Amino acid sequence: MTVSEIMEKMIKFSDGNIHDIDHLIRVWTYARTIGELEGLDSDTQFILEIAAITHDIACPLCREKFQNTNGKHQEEEGVLMVKAFLKDAGLDDGQIDRVAYLVGHHHTFSGIDGMDYQILVEADYIANASENGYSRANINNFMEKIMKTDSGKRLLAAVMGRALT
Ligand SMILES: [Fe+2]
Repeated sequence: MTVSEIMEKMIKFSDGNIHDIDHLIRVWTYARTIGELEGLDSDTQFILEIAAITHDIACPLCREKFQNTNGKHQEEEGVLMVKAFLKDAGLDDGQIDRVAYLVGHHHTFSGIDGMDYQILVEADYIANASENGYSRANINNFMEKIMKTDSGKRLLAAVMGRALT
């Protein structure tokens, strides 16, 4: 499947939950933009975009099962759910494993082991910072300690700049 076909599948899977759909679309847009600006190779860009689309796949289940979307539960459930979700999407085993790894680690900021992982974390943070109105201290800390890409930093500053002045 193409990125767009997987996007359609994920939107259908989200079953009318506009909050979840809006979030995944935003994270995908930031991830795609940062990935292209950073010059990722096409294989890594593809993995990044599929991970961005599916990263919060376990959110609805975790809200139901644990009454929250706590990071750890969501990561564990997400690995199993995204593997099932992508089973008929035509990806090879290596691609599915990498996407599942990223979904399973997107709240874990230690041990970032590739540009797909790095950019997914950055894109999700930018979306969450604007959705949840993160403080200047939180944003400065993330920008200094976690962010690595110049385009991610520029985007975060541009998105949050007005809110921070
Ligand atoms: Fe997210």
